[in-house]
Amino acid sequence: MPKVTFYPANKSGDLPEGTNLLDAAEKLGITINHDCGGFATCSTCRILIVDGTDHLTEIDLDEENMLEEAELTAPFRLSCQAKIQGEVIARIPDGEMRWDPEALEELGKQDAKTRQVLRVIVEARARRQNDTLINIETAQTLIAEAQKQIEESEENPARLAALIKNVYDIP
Ligand code: FES
Repeated sequence: MPKVTFYPANKSGDLPEGTNLLDAAEKLGITINHDCGGFATCSTCRILIVDGTDHLTEIDLDEENMLEEAELTAPFRLSCQAKIQGEVIARIPDGEMRWDPEALEELGKQDAKTRQVLRVIVEARARRQNDTLINIETAQTLIAEAQKQIEESEENPARLAALIKNVYDIP
């Protein structure tokens, strides 16, 4: 049975092939928001795949539409739709941080294709420097750094997954 590991809880378990990540998390005692009950219509069950992108079922049309609507790109998946076929390591995103209006405007100027991944990276770094609010100076610096790293990853899903893994200090 494939092994699945969830961070930040760092809990793992062997679960039957075909189990979706939302159910896998619940079986391991981890709660993931799932407002629509698993019907690919809310995106609250979003999760970051940091290893094993190829060990999940492919994105179907329902998931694709929801991801697109929520501006979520790789390595995001909807945990209620992604079913395990091999070993996977996933990170549940932290709750969103507060941004001041100017900083949020700056984020809004970024390419929608990578904006949510960019946000995850910037917020993880801001948390590390103990910021509780992202102001314009922090936003400009961290967005520029993160943007460069995303560009270097050539938007390749496996490389983006590795980048997120590194940002969250996942071994
Ligand atoms: S629970 Fe709503 S999209 Fe997954």
